[in-house]
Amino acid sequence: MNLLELREVSKTYTTRQRTVQALDGVSLGVKEGEIVMITGRSGSGKSTLLHVMSCLDRPTSGSVVVKGKETKDMGREELALFRNSNMGFVFQSYTVLPGYSVLENVMLPGLIKGFPAGELRARAEELLSMVDLSNDTDMDAVNLSGGEQQRVAIARALINDQDMIFADEPTGALDSRNAENVMEIFSRINAEHNKTIIFVTHDRSLSRYADRLIELMDGRIVDGGET
Ligand SMILES: Nc1ncnc2c1ncn2[C@@H]1O[C@H](COP(=O)(O)OP(=O)(O)O)[C@@H](O)[C@H]1O
Ligand SMILES: [Mg+2]
Repeated sequence: MNLLELREVSKTYTTRQRTVQALDGVSLGVKEGEIVMITGRSGSGKSTLLHVMSCLDRPTSGSVVVKGKETKDMGREELALFRNSNMGFVFQSYTVLPGYSVLENVMLPGLIKGFPAGELRARAEELLSMVDLSNDTDMDAVNLSGGEQQRVAIARALINDQDMIFADEPTGALDSRNAENVMEIFSRINAEHNKTIIFVTHDRSLSRYADRLIELMDGRIVDGGET
């Protein structure tokens, strides 16, 4: 069974000026433990696809099934809870909250969920060691380098023991050395903790970190779709 499945998903944005078909009949399946890379030119629909797959946004038509659950049938709040328990997010930039320590940044989504602080602290320390940041836990997160901030974001994406990470251009603001480092951390948590990772990039050279490449053009999959 697929961990995540899209069937004939379309997404249209309607503004006052125009209608844009950002996704057009996309079908794909993602298996547990896969690393999937979504690529394509600017405007091809990568972010929209990631948002729809991760239930940050709903499709205009078609079906999104995650862990066997049809997300159409879930209400707004139920979906938000489902997302918070199953999915972690890493974005391109502004990923840490200034004025909070590295440790607090990682604990935050768990505090929102109401987990006991002591338990979260222990878990955050463990996650920070997983991303090689054990020595910086008390520092204000904003003082870390860009690459280190992305590693904080990865640790934070797993604080509720989510089994999927969605990342939109996670290396987009990094130099190549830091980009490699972030990708190596994704590889490691995939290999050692069986986390499923779905990331968007326009950088083709990162495909060596992926099990599968999905290429989009004008909202359609031109390579790597279905199961
Ligand atoms: N909120 C929105 N409102 C209107 N159009 C949008 C919105 N988000 C994206 N689009 C349009 O949908 C298309 C796909 O965008 P996007 O998914 O962001 O592509 P990518 O991430 O590959 O650059 C583009 O034409 C973009 O302008
Ligand atoms: Mg984008």
